[in-house]
Amino acid sequence: MSERTLSVGLLGCGNVGAALVRLLAAHEGDIAQRTGCRLAITRVAVRDPSRERDLPLDRAVFTDDPGSVVDDPAVDIVCELIGGLKPARSLILRAFAAGKPVVTANKELLANDGRSLFDAADAGGVDLYFEAAVGGGIPLIRPLKESLTGERIARVLGIVNGTTNYILTRMAEDGSAYDDALAEAQRLGYAEADATADVDGFDAAAKCAILASIAFNARVVASEVFREGIAGVTSQDIADATKLGYVVKLLAIAELEDDAITARVHPAMIPTSHPLAAVRDAYNAVFVEGPSIGQLMFYGRGAGGEPTAVAVAGDLVTVARHLVQGGRGVGCTCVYERRIRPMDDTRGQYYLNLHVEDRPGVLAEIADRFGSNGVSIERVWQEGFGDEAMLAFVTHRAQEGAFQKTVQELRELSVVRDVASLLRVEGEE
Ligand SMILES: NC(=O)c1ccc[n+]([C@@H]2O[C@H](COP(=O)([O-])OP(=O)(O)OC[C@H]3O[C@@H](n4cnc5c(N)ncnc54)[C@H](OP(=O)(O)O)[C@@H]3O)[C@@H](O)[C@H]2O)c1
Repeated sequence: MSERTLSVGLLGCGNVGAALVRLLAAHEGDIAQRTGCRLAITRVAVRDPSRERDLPLDRAVFTDDPGSVVDDPAVDIVCELIGGLKPARSLILRAFAAGKPVVTANKELLANDGRSLFDAADAGGVDLYFEAAVGGGIPLIRPLKESLTGERIARVLGIVNGTTNYILTRMAEDGSAYDDALAEAQRLGYAEADATADVDGFDAAAKCAILASIAFNARVVASEVFREGIAGVTSQDIADATKLGYVVKLLAIAELEDDAITARVHPAMIPTSHPLAAVRDAYNAVFVEGPSIGQLMFYGRGAGGEPTAVAVAGDLVTVARHLVQGGRGVGCTCVYERRIRPMDDTRGQYYLNLHVEDRPGVLAEIADRFGSNGVSIERVWQEGFGDEAMLAFVTHRAQEGAFQKTVQELRELSVVRDVASLLRVEGEE
């Protein structure tokens, strides 16, 4: 084995960083065999260097000055595990300017600013790797970016946020109310005290932007992803879905059709026979479809320090190999400009459950609103009588804008008391 040692400067040593430190120590031999060198973490930036961390590292390597880690001439590779936009972005750009490759798990940064990061990596002639940014320990970026180069990916459909999947699983399997399931997720450490990024779909939208960009070779940023969280999912929605043979999941969906990209995150009903329906609790899964491969599914732990650190370590091995052997990995693959389809122009199937007046002519009046907006009904049935009367509908595939206009008109009808449940339906074809 070569005696060469590459020095890693670690920015952030929290859940993922600490797991990475332990993992690199435990797999030293395997890493050296694959890279032809040793990897040593020689500098670590944290907020509080005085904190006891119980890691196989000398205390002297810790600092609260991340810039000094990046600037240290002895540091060969920068590994950014602080998260967020600031100061992570400027530190990464500083590393590129100094000609140092970067490995990061920062989905927020990649989804908002991927273009400028890759430009800076190109200018510095160095690698930017981010396998851990989507799906934690699930290998997704490399398969999409490299292994599937020979495929024209048509659709990526995934459960990419473990917190919301846990909440929806509890609601479906235990009959928990949304607030109780969220509190349970927080107690177990799946959800942060401020769960907004998860439950409002921001985290999933960032991942959707990254997946869409890589799958379709065109830049999609987080703000271009249609986003609807799970806070509005009710026990009624879950009960209706169960009754119909569906489960409710927060899905990230990226599609390419007629050279336009659809990127959206929202709760949806999927049939219990769909492979994603079996993805329970905090697990993640991403379903990739293309004409040659058909369907592929990547499944596993989408978060957690240890699984995520495995993905980071894999990137470090790749980057280290490039430093030892020369060359660079695949850089930015967003080489096309593609239109992002507005949500109103997308097409989908919908489930709608209405509280209605129980008298003759109601169905005809409601069906007329569907018909006049060009939304055709696949199934309709009545439940309950009198004050409890409900009409439930599943539409054929229809344009989102036309469906939303239909719902708006239905809300204004005197025969409709209220909309009890409204969900998109996916995975039927
Ligand atoms: N956790 C997961 O399951 C997971 C999964 C996939 C991706 N990721 C991504 O991985 C990254 C790290 O996540 P994490 O869960 O490990 O975060 P974390 O536990 O909050 O750790 C953040 C680390 O950064 C340090 N830090 C924060 N601000 C700093 C600053 N200004 N200067 C220097 N150090 C600073 C903290 O120092 P102290 O230790 O002193 O507080 C801590 O060590 C994020 O981008 C996250 O999105 C995480």
